[in-house]
Amino acid sequence: GAAELGPYRHYMQKEIFEQPRVIGDTLEGVTGIMPELFGDNAYKVFKQIDRVLILACGTSYYAGLTAKYWIESVAKVPVNVEIASEYRYRDSVPHPNTLVVTITQSGETADTLAALKHARSLGMQHTLTICNVATSAMVRECALAYITRAGVEVGVASTKAFTTQLAALFLLTLTLAQVNGRLSDDEEAMYLKQMRHLPVALAAVLALEPQIMAWADDFARKENALFLGRGIHYPIALEGALKLKEISYIHAEAYPAGELKHGPLALVTEEMPVVTIAPNDALLEKLKSNMQEVRARGGQLYVFADVDSRITSGDGVHVIRLPEHYGLLSPILHVAALQLLAYHTALARGTDVDKPRNLAKSVTVE
Ligand code: G6P
Repeated sequence: GAAELGPYRHYMQKEIFEQPRVIGDTLEGVTGIMPELFGDNAYKVFKQIDRVLILACGTSYYAGLTAKYWIESVAKVPVNVEIASEYRYRDSVPHPNTLVVTITQSGETADTLAALKHARSLGMQHTLTICNVATSAMVRECALAYITRAGVEVGVASTKAFTTQLAALFLLTLTLAQVNGRLSDDEEAMYLKQMRHLPVALAAVLALEPQIMAWADDFARKENALFLGRGIHYPIALEGALKLKEISYIHAEAYPAGELKHGPLALVTEEMPVVTIAPNDALLEKLKSNMQEVRARGGQLYVFADVDSRITSGDGVHVIRLPEHYGLLSPILHVAALQLLAYHTALARGTDVDKPRNLAKSVTVE
């Protein structure tokens, strides 16, 4: 009811603003990197595995895609990420020394549960879930678990569950790196410090809401939008597009920016808003040339940069600058800005933000 909503108009907005706190809760008590955070037997399991298979649906799948970039880069363990409904029905090549990781807010998604059982039937016995519901079927099914502490998520479009999944998956990344001798004490201390500072950094992003609302008025008049990102921000572009289509019913597609010229560039006209995630990372210069390709066709750029990216507003280029550059954890900050863009666009279009048509919070039947 209204009392629970406090100052917020919708659960989705409330849940977006809860993120600093629930990320803090999810990482509470993490004073150092240790396998036992994932279960008593985790060290032994993490020592045995030499690859990771991530299974999930929807927004949780995009958390998995982000984790692939993290784990391969930091822990140097190969990762496959599969959509659960595809994996369960396709012929794949099993590998016994796999850590099977399911990611699920509810812990009850039918396809993800079936995909886990399928993996097990193929001989993969090492299972871990990143799950938000400690009493769920998924937690019962998996040997290892990390419980995110997003709390109850009411909005059908997932927000705080996603960012807490990312926090847990970053912790998994560091843990696998440590077990493989790839995390120095200095790196551990540095990452822990960054993780502890996340709630403050995220609150500063949420404070950009008034600027994002101004963009939402433009978006509300569009029927299409394109989202671009590269590297760890490509999955965030996918999630940003998913949020926009789910709740505002605007057709939105995400592409890794390097693929632009292999198709989506044909869609770019003055009518096409192109949301670009542009933190100052190693891919920024590449991304800037992708942005020029969009501008040359008249496309309107809406750029989420950060304090260090040298991109300025100009003709057809709108820039919102995130206050901190956040390295590997930057996806957690950038997605919050995209959540607010989707939320305010939907609000301007008058859709039922918390209960979008045709969608369910948890898909427990196939
Ligand atoms: C539904 C929800 C999404 C969610 C997906 C997977 O589609 O609307 O928000 O990402 O299911 O749910 P899970 O509980 O497995 O994360």
